[in-house]
Parts: sequence; C-alpha cells; structure tokens
Amino acid sequence: MTVDSMCGPDLPMTTQFELFGPGFAEFVLPYQCAIATLTTKVHILRQGFTHLDRHCPIEHVSARVKSPDSVMAKAQRLRCPLTAADIRQNIRDIAGVRITCGLISDTYRVADLIGGQPDVTVFEVEDYISKPKSNGYKSLHVAVEIPVFLSDRVVQVPVELQIRTIAMDFWASLEHKIYYKYQRSVLRRLLQELTEAADVAHRLDRKMERLHNEVAGLKSPVDS
Ligand code: GTP
Ligand code: MG
Repeated sequence: MTVDSMCGPDLPMTTQFELFGPGFAEFVLPYQCAIATLTTKVHILRQGFTHLDRHCPIEHVSARVKSPDSVMAKAQRLRCPLTAADIRQNIRDIAGVRITCGLISDTYRVADLIGGQPDVTVFEVEDYISKPKSNGYKSLHVAVEIPVFLSDRVVQVPVELQIRTIAMDFWASLEHKIYYKYQRSVLRRLLQELTEAADVAHRLDRKMERLHNEVAGLKSPVDS
C-alpha cells in the first residue's frame, strides 16, 4: 500500500499516524536522500576551502527530517488535507539542513555557493538577518529544491536551509528551549531579556566581522 492511499483525508489524525507507521519510512525516503545530497555538497565545499587553505565559511552542518508529529501538526495548522500528496505539496520544510558559519558575511556566501549550483533551484529566501523577527531571531532561510535520483525515478525534493552564525545559533537554541518549555507562561521580562540577548549576539557578530577584516588586511610578518 502506498502512503497516498493509506492517508485518506477522512481519517482522524491519530489514525493517520498509526497508519503512517512503515509508510512514513517510504514517505520520508526522498527527503533523507535530499539531505544526504545537500550535506555532501556542504562537505565538498568545506574540503575545497580547507585544501586551498582559505578561510572556510562553514563551521558546522546538521540536518533533520520533520517527525510525523510535527508534519501532522503543521498540516493541521496550514489546513492542508492529510494526504501524502497534499503534505508533500504544501509543507516545504520536511527536510531541513542547518549550516552554522563564523561570520555574517559567510552566511550570505554559503547561500550563494549552494544556491548557485546548477542542480539547486532556489524557491524563496527569507532574510531574517537583515530583517530580524520581533523577538530578535536572526537566520537566513533558503528554500531550495534538488533532484534525488531514486532507483526508479527522479524526484524534485524541497529542503529548507537555515544558515546562521554561531552566535545566532546559540541564541536560537536557547530561545527555542525556553519558549517550548514554558510556552505562553514565559514571563514578559524573560522575553524582553531574550530580545536584548539577540542584540548582544548581533553586536558580537559585527565585532568579529570587523576584526576578521582587519586581520585579513594585515600583512603577515612572514611576508614582510
Ligand atoms: P514553521 O516551520 O512551522 O515554524 O513555520 P514557518 O515556515 O512559517 O516559519 P519560519 O519560516 O519563520 O521558521 C521556520 C523555522 O525557523 C522554525 O521551524 C525554526 O526552526 C526556525 N525559527 C523561526 N523563528 C524562530 C524563532 O523565533 N526562534 C527560534 N529559536 N527558531 C525560529
Ligand atoms: Mg518558513
């Protein structure tokens, strides 16, 4: 039975989940392959920079496939019919790859390096670095699509790339923990302080960028 035929829109959500069971593995396979392809691209870029002994804009890469629970929760939020085909069409971040960079300029560079590859189609760029969210969240979200070559067909698979500095990532992971742990009961003061912390992180990022540029402009004592 295919995932499409298992997930009729008339079934209640819990039943959908039970039915997803082994079908979910089939559903997420292309997403897992897309993640493998994209992370390989990132590793190749990294190796290139390391080999040339140049400043590498990539510090770390991680990836995840959305859990069945969050796929269903998002589908419900979007009022998307609970069929595999509709979910595939409407939820564009089932596969997610997060890249952390040293500098703010590195984030844009990495986005260009990946987005400029001929098999990568850039669908949307949400630049929360130049336009942060009201809570202070900063990150570059690049929605891409890449081909995945399965044994019997080629499928175009959407992946959400989140590219941010280590400082932005540090802030986001703590904010996520606090927000999800305490949900709406989070004190106003705490939220205010988090937003201020995002500003501190941004100032640190700007300072590191400036220091990096100054160092890059210095003549090495060995050369002189
Ligand atoms: P979701 O993906 O369901 O959140 O909805 P969306 O696509 O409308 O949201 P958006 O593109 O703004 O954010 C997608 C992802 O970015 C989230 O799932 C988080 O991983 C991350 N993100 C966005 N806003 C925040 C934030 O305020 N704090 C943290 N920690 N992460 C965020
Ligand atoms: Mg989004």
